Order: sequence, then structure tokens, then C-alpha cells
Amino acid sequence: MKGFRSILPGEIRENLFSAVKDDWMLISARKADGRINTMTASWGGFGIMWGRAVCLCVIRPQRYTLEFVNEAEWLTLTFLKEGYREALTLCGRKSGRDCDKIAEAGLTPVVDGDLVGFEEARMVIAGRKLYCGTFREEGFLDRSIVAEQYPKGDFHRVFVCGIEDVLIR
Ligand SMILES: Cc1cc2nc3c(=O)[nH]c(=O)nc-3n(C[C@H](O)[C@H](O)[C@H](O)COP(=O)(O)O)c2cc1C
Repeated sequence: MKGFRSILPGEIRENLFSAVKDDWMLISARKADGRINTMTASWGGFGIMWGRAVCLCVIRPQRYTLEFVNEAEWLTLTFLKEGYREALTLCGRKSGRDCDKIAEAGLTPVVDGDLVGFEEARMVIAGRKLYCGTFREEGFLDRSIVAEQYPKGDFHRVFVCGIEDVLIR
């Protein structure tokens, strides 16, 4: 991806807990016809599964982004530089179904094959989908999560992706 350099997952120096929870990230994907979409996310994870470095993200069924992620082999998790809180808020409130929210947010997509990054990024994590599934009500051992997070029954779809590249500035 132009303007970025690759590092290994183990070389990420920033605290990913605060990066996801406090800074938020964009989940982006590209359809075969070239259309792209993105949405803000503040839940997700990183770790080791099946002997590989992985990232995990969760997408509710009503998100337009889900159509893109379902279709694509790849997704990206983008962490923007400081100063783009408004852009992240907009991408977390508006749907790509209704408007060109990427333009409205003042973001500049950088598309490299299947990967969608942004010029304004400090880090883009490229994930190749390895597993997807949907949380099931019966699976929750702490039932309070169901009542708190899923009153409408819109259980997240979970994607576990192999981290194939970590792009930083
Ligand atoms: C801070 C923040 C975090 C969010 N995290 C998630 C998330 O992890 N999963 C999810 O499905 N939606 C999440 N959302 C909601 C989506 O970003 C939002 O519904 C967005 O408008 C979906 O856009 P789309 O319809 O173009 O996909 C979050 C929103 C905000 C503001």
C-alpha cells in the first residue's frame, strides 16, 4: 500500500486494547465490483489462533459493511491518526447505504487490490478471513450480556482473520 511500510504483528508497539476501545478503528472491505465500504468499530481483538497471528471483529447483521465483508476474502482494520474523531463518529453513525460517508468524513481511501486503507491512517491491519460465525443466545454463560447487548436479537457475526500484513507510516 503506497505510503506505508510493513511490520510484523509482533512488532506493533502501540497498546491495542486502548487503540480499539478508546481510539476506535474502521472495518473496511471491497466488493468484487470495486465498491468499498467502511464502518467504525470499538470492539474486537488480537491474538494467536491456530498457530497464527489473528484479529477478530464483530459486525451486526444490519450493517451495510457486513455485505462487503461477507463477499470479500479480505478485510482491513484501520487506525486513524489523531484528529479524526469526527470522521470516526460519522462512519459509526451513517450508513454507506444512504450516503458517500467516506467522502463526507473527509477520508481518502487507498485501495490496493482487495485491501482498503486510508491516507489518514497510522496503521492498517490486513486480515484474510479464516472463520466466521454468529453468536448464539444459548452460548452466553453470562445471560446479562444478552439482555444488555442484544435486546433486538441482532447477534454479531464474528470474523477471525489471519493477519497477513501490518502497514504503518
Ligand atoms: C464508537 C463506535 C463503535 C462501533 N462499534 C461497532 C462494532 O464493533 N460492531 C458493529 O456492528 N457496529 C459498531 N458500530 C456501529 C456502526 O459503525 C454503525 O452502525 C455504522 O453506521 C454502520 O455503517 P454501515 O451501515 O455503512 O456498515 C460502532 C459505532 C461507533 C460510533
